[in-house]
Amino acid sequence: MKKLYFSLSLVVLLLLFGAWLVSFFQWTSPTIQNSINTTASSETVNNATGSIQSDQGRPLSVVFNPPAPEDAPAKIREEVMLGYKIMTETKKYAGEYVGDNLSCTNCHFDGGRARETLSLVGVAAKYPAYRGRRAYTADLGLRTQGCFERSMNGKAPALDSQIIQSLMVYYHWISKGIPIYENVPWLGIDHDLKLKRKPDVIAGKKVFQDVCARCHGNNGHGTEIAPPLWGEHSFNDGAGMNRVRTFSVFTWRFMPKSSPGLSKDQALDVAGYVHAQPRPHFVATHPNKIKRIIPLEEEGVR
Ligand code: HEC
Ligand code: HEC
Repeated sequence: MKKLYFSLSLVVLLLLFGAWLVSFFQWTSPTIQNSINTTASSETVNNATGSIQSDQGRPLSVVFNPPAPEDAPAKIREEVMLGYKIMTETKKYAGEYVGDNLSCTNCHFDGGRARETLSLVGVAAKYPAYRGRRAYTADLGLRTQGCFERSMNGKAPALDSQIIQSLMVYYHWISKGIPIYENVPWLGIDHDLKLKRKPDVIAGKKVFQDVCARCHGNNGHGTEIAPPLWGEHSFNDGAGMNRVRTFSVFTWRFMPKSSPGLSKDQALDVAGYVHAQPRPHFVATHPNKIKRIIPLEEEGVR
C-alpha cells in the first residue's frame, strides 16, 4: 500500500513538473525567436532577456509574433485572407498584373509572415517613408505597385484597386503590435557581404550547376520545385533582386531553401553568374516618381 502511495505521488509530481515546463517554454518562445538572427540591425540584443535596446537606450517592445491571417477579426478577415492569397498565389489572384512565373512568396517566404526571408512583419509600421534613392515619399501602396512592375515583371494595379487595398489590410494585420516607426530588426536585407572583390562569373557558373540547378533547373528557367532565376519568366532588370548585392545576400542567407550553407564567396560568385544571364527589361507602367512641388529644403522644413 505504502509503495502505491509513493508511486502515485511521484506520478503527480512528474505531471506538475511537465506542466510547468510546457508553460515556461510557451511563455519564453517569442523572446527566444526574437534573439535569433538580428545581425542586420544597428540595435543590440540582450540575449539573456531578448529585449532590444534602441539607439536611445530605451527598451523596445518589438516582438516577432505575427498573427495568423485566419485569426483576423471578422470585419477584416476576408480582406486579410485575400491579401495572403495574393501574396502566395499571385498569378491566380492578380494574374492580370503578373508577367512572370513568380509569386510574392517566392522571395517573401510564407507571404512575408516568415522572419526569414524578406519579412513583411511590421512593414505597416515602417511606411509611409522617404526613399532617398528616388527622392520621394512612398506609402505601401506605391511601394507595392513597384513590386508588381519589377519583381513580378507586370503592371501596377491602381492604388484604389482591390488588389492593392487587400494587400494593405494584410500588411497591417501581420504588423499588429509593432510600434509605428520603431526599428524592426528583421526587416530588409543587409545589403553587402563585405567582400572586397568583383564576382567570379566562371566560379559562379560551377556553383550554379553544383548547387542550384537541381531545383531551379539546368537552364535556370525554373522547375516544378523552384521558380526561375533568369529568362523570360523571371523578374526584370529593374527588380531589387537584380542587384548583385541583394541577390548574393539573399542566396547566402536563405539558399538552398531550408538548408542554406554556401560560403560568402560562393554566394557572391553565383550572384555574378546569374546577373550575367538574360532577363526581361523593366518598363514603367505608372509614374515612378512623385512630382516634388515644394522642395523639402526650403523654409526650414528640413
Ligand atoms: C524576386 C523577388 C521578389 C518578389 C517576387 C517580390 N519581392 Fe517584394 N521585395 C524584394 C526585395 C529584394 C525587396 C527589398 C528591396 C530593397 O530594399 O532593396 C522587396 C521589398 C518589398 C516591400 C518593402 C519591404 C520593406 O521592408 O521596405 C514590400 C511591401 C514588398 N516587397 C511586397 C511585395 C509584393 C506584394 C510582391 C508580389 C506582388 C513582391 N514584393 C514580390 C523581392 C521580391
Ligand atoms: C532544394 C531546392 C533549392 C535549391 C538547391 C536552391 N533553391 Fe532557390 N529556391 C527554392 C525554392 C523552393 C524557392 C521559392 C521559395 C518559396 O516560394 O517559398 C527558391 C527561391 C529562390 C530565389 C527567389 C525567387 C526567384 O526565383 O528569383 C532565388 C533568388 C534563389 N532561390 C536562388 C537560389 C540560388 C542562387 C541557389 C543555388 C546557390 C538556389 N536558389 C538553390 C529552392 C531551391
